[in-house]
Amino acid sequence: MTARWAPSTWRDLPIQQAPSYPDEDALGAVEERLATAPPLVFAGEARNLKRALANVASGDAFLLQGGDCAESFAEFHPDNIRDTFRVLLQMAVVLTFGAACPVVKVGRMAGQFAKPRSAPTESQGDVELPSYRGDIVNGIEFDEAARAPDPQRILRAYHQAASTLNLLRAFAQGGFADLHRVSAWNNDFVADSPQGHRYARMAERIQEALAFMEACGLTPESAPQMRETEFYTSHEALLLNYEQAMTRVDSATGDWYDTSAHMLWIGDRTRQPGHAHVEFLRGVKNPVGLKCGPSLDPDRLIRLIDILNPANEPGRLTLIARMGAGRVEEGLPPLIRAVEREGRAVVWSCDPMHGNTIKASNGFKTRPFDRILAEARGFFAVHRAEGTHAGGVHFEMTGKDVTECLGGAQAIRDDDLSSRYHTHCDPRLNASQALELAFLIAEQLRAERGETVKAAAAQ
Ligand code: PEP
Ligand code: CO
Repeated sequence: MTARWAPSTWRDLPIQQAPSYPDEDALGAVEERLATAPPLVFAGEARNLKRALANVASGDAFLLQGGDCAESFAEFHPDNIRDTFRVLLQMAVVLTFGAACPVVKVGRMAGQFAKPRSAPTESQGDVELPSYRGDIVNGIEFDEAARAPDPQRILRAYHQAASTLNLLRAFAQGGFADLHRVSAWNNDFVADSPQGHRYARMAERIQEALAFMEACGLTPESAPQMRETEFYTSHEALLLNYEQAMTRVDSATGDWYDTSAHMLWIGDRTRQPGHAHVEFLRGVKNPVGLKCGPSLDPDRLIRLIDILNPANEPGRLTLIARMGAGRVEEGLPPLIRAVEREGRAVVWSCDPMHGNTIKASNGFKTRPFDRILAEARGFFAVHRAEGTHAGGVHFEMTGKDVTECLGGAQAIRDDDLSSRYHTHCDPRLNASQALELAFLIAEQLRAERGETVKAAAAQ
């Protein structure tokens, strides 16, 4: 029997990672205001994404999902949005051309504001304050006023998400994403890196191919995919007060959609069946993601799939494995086998970031790039061995030249971390590391697809 669901039923259940607001009335007033504000995305768009993800589930496309760990009010700038979008386009091109595989592009953007934390408070000296939970909740500065959860921040986050999304839509549809500009996406500092050179060579070949296609009569007018792209948004559905207030009935179908983003996911710390976050997301019809960390056992996973995707609808559920390098080979196969045994249609994606966070010798939170690549490789190897599709990758990156993750072609060392360490939360790949990851994935995907073609030919 399935219990009744409404956008508010999560409120009666246990909840993890919820901020405690000092003024509940002020919070209620903000929720009320937001409940009548314009939706950020339309239900029809979320359905389009679900269809695209169904192609990933069946092995015919690849999901590229990335962006900031935490968006911030301070870093809100059109150049930052453009740079992140541009690197995602570059990565998508590397995959589409390098592996001849359609790519579904989803940003961790326009709403990725709330962060789960490992401890509810942070101490410096003898002062203990609430932890920073993302700009939608409180401020990062270590003082009492900044750390008090402030509901006005929810409205500010909504407006920032609306402007970000507006710009992303313009970039996707208004000429920036035109494939003829493939060389122009290679920006200054990336262009000078080994990955940038590799990209430039690929871009030349793409331009030759475009010229050939145009000579054959296939023009941007006849094939709009050449001049514009589909781009979707996503974030962790963590602050449920915000998510509930953005949830609306779709007039075309009568179904509920969370209109704060096309896709929402449940974090590794908030995925308990019968708790608030799982309850909320089971009732909205958007595509949803579920982070799968090393503590998730196969039975629990199947139970969560029963709750989140009872109709076994392809494209509805993306499982985002984040095991850690060296653990994915052991941790992932039992989950894949359970899903296969039960005949569940899911997208398998790999988050090679969150299981690989360490403290550098100088205290910086960082991630070794070779461990990130190792986890991605391990993910593909497991899927090849199981005969399933390695469907996607989920990562934290920025288009800027930051020094947050160790290694990569620039060989960032412990001592370099302090030079451009700007993240509000976790260490992100910089543009050149992100491109390096894309080249690695293209190779892996090509290998998988090579094997798929061989298998089909042998039948
Ligand atoms: C995140 O994606 O930023 C995150 C906190 O991940 P996880 O829930 O997998 O730890
Ligand atoms: Co993160």
